[in-house]
Amino acid sequence: MKPKITVLAPKGKRKIEWVERHMPVLMTIRKEMSKRKPLKGLRVGAALHLEAKTAALVRTLVAGGAEVALAGCNPLSTRDEVVAALMRDGINVYAWRGQSEKDYYANIHRVLDHRPDILIDDGADLISTTHAKRPERIQKIRGACEETTTGVNRLRMMAADGALKFPVIAVNDSPAKRLFDNRFGTAESTLQGIMATTNTLIAGKQIVVVGYGFVGRGMASRAKGLGAIVTVVETDPIRALEATMDGFRVARMAEAARVGDIFITTTGNIGVIRKEHMRRMHDGAILCNAGHFNVEIDLKGLASLSVKRRKVLDDVEEFQLKDGRRLHLLAEGRLVNLAGERSLGHPMEIMDMSFALQALSVGYLAEHGKELEPKVHDVPAEIDRRVAELKLKSLGVGLEKLTREQLGYLRAWKFGT
Ligand SMILES: NC(=O)c1ccc[n+]([C@@H]2O[C@H](COP(=O)([O-])OP(=O)(O)OC[C@H]3O[C@@H](n4cnc5c(N)ncnc54)[C@H](O)[C@@H]3O)[C@@H](O)[C@H]2O)c1
Repeated sequence: MKPKITVLAPKGKRKIEWVERHMPVLMTIRKEMSKRKPLKGLRVGAALHLEAKTAALVRTLVAGGAEVALAGCNPLSTRDEVVAALMRDGINVYAWRGQSEKDYYANIHRVLDHRPDILIDDGADLISTTHAKRPERIQKIRGACEETTTGVNRLRMMAADGALKFPVIAVNDSPAKRLFDNRFGTAESTLQGIMATTNTLIAGKQIVVVGYGFVGRGMASRAKGLGAIVTVVETDPIRALEATMDGFRVARMAEAARVGDIFITTTGNIGVIRKEHMRRMHDGAILCNAGHFNVEIDLKGLASLSVKRRKVLDDVEEFQLKDGRRLHLLAEGRLVNLAGERSLGHPMEIMDMSFALQALSVGYLAEHGKELEPKVHDVPAEIDRRVAELKLKSLGVGLEKLTREQLGYLRAWKFGT
């Protein structure tokens, strides 16, 4: 159902105002953009998790002169009150929580109907739809920004196949994003999502974290901090070793399946928890996902093992196996930190940096997009540094300056006389 604008908008507005008070970096950039109007005359089309922090980014782009059209990047992560507030401000938004797969793609097409000059994507559905279904839109597009690991991986594959037709900035890969958003933001919000959805205690629980990349590392350390006993499952030998030396038990999925009370997938890969693992799980085990798509837990396999399934709480579905054991799936296997009704998404202070990177990267594309090659580009280092410096400033943290002597010393290759 589409959001009722007048009823929901005031609540959405309050949420947006609250997060904006905690996003000082983005607000500094908004102030600058509203004076310089670097996006004047440009149309931005975006597919993002439509929640309050995203609205803060959208309002920044609008302040910079852009006309913005928005769709969701996940059928469950949209907050209707935020959509209502944006729509009341005259922004074109095509999304509502719980939209069908068909509506999800129809809404992406609606964004493309606006003839965007710049795209912002999270997961690459908007960019891949443009290439596969709306090639007539490509010529006008100066470039795009991609927010997450799965999206960047897909776009690198497109570039390797020679299929990518405009430049994309991999916002995800910038140190200021991966180190803080993927690691701290996803960990904290995923644990918040699990707790708010289930009311479960983390302390003393056996938590299995599948994948020890940026997201998995944060997840394991935060779960341990809350008192969980953490097992990590990895396919990469270096990362498995890192997890071992970080003090975690590392095991194959088949072994971990027997011990886990809560399973969290963070791989960006398909079918990492399958039927053969589910068969080993104990009664009451909780399964959830923090990776971008709902493919990490084999949902068809889970359904086929079950003799009965029922919704036991909002966002908790119980699957009863033949022998009576019950497994609990959170938020339909979609990213639990954003898709759960009570999930709050990443903390505001984290999205302050991630969306500051997005806003500056969109500004960069407005200025330089036409000169860039159609491939995946890093975020320019000066943008990354600027965001980190602004964040430190907002935190009142001082940065040591290199002396002239130190600078000379670091640059010299000849030491002594
Ligand atoms: N929920 C969120 O808000 C959020 C935020 C950021 C990123 N993400 C998503 O989380 C996922 C992971 O992102 P990342 O930055 O940590 O990626 P990453 O590439 O750093 O880490 C993924 C890890 O999973 C491992 N892996 C792959 N297949 C595996 C398997 N079958 N079993 C065990 N381990 C396996 C890889 O070896 C790698 O170490 C992506 O889908 C990304 O888009 C979600």
